[in-house]
Amino acid sequence: MAVAARSLTDTWSIGAVEVPGRIVLAPMAGVSVQAFRRQGRRFGAGLVCSEMVSACGLHHRNERTLGYLRIAADERPLAVQIFGSEPPLLAEAARMVVEAGADLVDINMGCPVKKVTKTGAGCTLLANGGEAAARIVEAVAGAVDVPVTVKMRRGERDGSRDALAAGPRLVEAGAAALTLHPRSAQQMYTGTADHALTAELVSLVDVPVIASGDVNSRARAEALLHSTGCEAVMVGRAAQGNPWLLGELAGRDGGEPTPDEVAAELVRFVRETVRELGEHRGIPFLRKFHGWYLRHGGFQRTLRQDLSGANTVEEVEALLYAAAPGARARVVAMEAELAALGDGSDDVELGLPISIYGGG
Ligand SMILES: Cc1cc2nc3c(=O)[nH]c(=O)nc-3n(C[C@H](O)[C@H](O)[C@H](O)COP(=O)(O)O)c2cc1C
Repeated sequence: MAVAARSLTDTWSIGAVEVPGRIVLAPMAGVSVQAFRRQGRRFGAGLVCSEMVSACGLHHRNERTLGYLRIAADERPLAVQIFGSEPPLLAEAARMVVEAGADLVDINMGCPVKKVTKTGAGCTLLANGGEAAARIVEAVAGAVDVPVTVKMRRGERDGSRDALAAGPRLVEAGAAALTLHPRSAQQMYTGTADHALTAELVSLVDVPVIASGDVNSRARAEALLHSTGCEAVMVGRAAQGNPWLLGELAGRDGGEPTPDEVAAELVRFVRETVRELGEHRGIPFLRKFHGWYLRHGGFQRTLRQDLSGANTVEEVEALLYAAAPGARARVVAMEAELAALGDGSDDVELGLPISIYGGG
């Protein structure tokens, strides 16, 4: 196989959808808001994903949600991830997200969180040779004319090979690509992702396989591409508060960001997120991001604490400008771009709840 020549910046395809680069930004519940996805595209991800949205929430309207899915044109190509266990509900959700602009529909078959698995969704779908999973893929692929993809863990229990047994069946049922995070649900995020399984999956199916798990450097991403034969690598936790990693993977040589760059990027992220979620929900939601961003730039420890006490965008910005005075000019330079995003009224907002119970 001529995989040695692959580069992270190659264009590749999922069905008829062209993806400009082999770096995919992972779906992460409670993280992959629109600002995160847009940032991912801006820094070099070829494809971004929404966090999982509940097909069941559509029906029962009783989920605790962070908000509702919103999609804008500049996120594309965009995969929207749906989860659930009932084929007709998933098919309905898929139709909605495609109508709103999703280029791909991804089905979550990896979520290890009890709240999700006890409903028969997430990684439990992979049991029994992927019987239930295949029925879902069939229903969804029959409902929409964009490519349908599936994201899996290896299975529920440690050592499980459920994803390998199910993979070919899902492709037969209509999956146009598969993502594998080769940890078990039992493992959650402990241990390491066993990408020998990713290589096995690649050898079993004739659609693109995306490798997810523990990608945190360019060297690691390239090694995975070459050792597994995967078509692309997915980056999750390492991109939290660190879009510069995506830039590095995409071949930009920037090195560590300066304090001004970190503060300006955080201000932009805060503004965009508050535009999406409103200040009341956005400010508490953003607190975990402060800690992630402040791993860069060598700021004083007290800044994070101070930011946690801020209740408005203005207060957050004042603290960041005081710590990194050059950030203000950078933000001013970004303002035209931010203004071009408008007030969000051009976005399509769907009645699809973003679950707060995510995982994968
Ligand atoms: C906070 C968090 C939320 C996640 N939410 C989702 C999700 O909604 N759907 C999904 O398929 N995977 C989800 N995942 C799993 C990631 O997409 C990814 O497969 C996993 O984190 C391994 O990649 P990493 O080592 O690059 O983080 C989530 C992971 C984290 C850390």
